[in-house]
Amino acid sequence: MLSISVAVANNNVIGIDNKLPWHISEDLKRFKKITSEKKMIMGRKAFESLPGILPNREHIIVTRNKNYKVDSDKVTIVHDLDSLIKEYSKCDDEIFVIGGAEIYEHFLPYVDKIYLTTIDEDFKGDTFFPEVNYDEFKVEYKSEKFTDEKNGLHYTFIDYKRI
Ligand SMILES: NC(=O)c1ccc[n+]([C@@H]2O[C@H](COP(=O)([O-])OP(=O)(O)OC[C@H]3O[C@@H](n4cnc5c(N)ncnc54)[C@H](OP(=O)(O)O)[C@@H]3O)[C@@H](O)[C@H]2O)c1
Repeated sequence: MLSISVAVANNNVIGIDNKLPWHISEDLKRFKKITSEKKMIMGRKAFESLPGILPNREHIIVTRNKNYKVDSDKVTIVHDLDSLIKEYSKCDDEIFVIGGAEIYEHFLPYVDKIYLTTIDEDFKGDTFFPEVNYDEFKVEYKSEKFTDEKNGLHYTFIDYKRI
């Protein structure tokens, strides 16, 4: 099965200048917890926005560039998104789609679960989470609204499961 992990601002912003517009350490911890020991599918830009190869996770990087290489046994480069959907949408393991916007857009119809972090603030940005019809999902878990101690941002974790 395919699951999305994403953090979204009130105005749907998810990124700016190929970075996250915010730093919420508890959100990064949650991301680490849910993706540890899992396969993660990401666009080439999202990969390049990471600080490096993330430990204990397999990185599947999607690019149209046939010459794109990353020297790590934790990385697989894939050029055909549809083959990934075919391979992983029906498998028993949970495979994470971790962005960015182009990749979310492509995978959204096929995901069973969305691990959403909502950030209760508008942000300036250049990358947006695509529109989701949440009528197709039920809320499996919703946290209380937390406040980040360092920046005062309010955020909530919500797990959606496709009905
Ligand atoms: N808030 C969050 O939770 C979150 C999570 C992840 C990322 N982000 C943010 O999102 C931004 C990046 O998102 P983005 O939409 O610009 O880029 P992206 O989705 O990460 O990557 C886009 C790249 O994926 C490849 N690609 C897209 N469609 C393809 C297809 N059909 N076949 C093969 N390859 C394909 C292309 O790579 P090539 O150009 O190499 O061909 C394309 O340039 C950053 O700001 C990042 O910080 C936010």
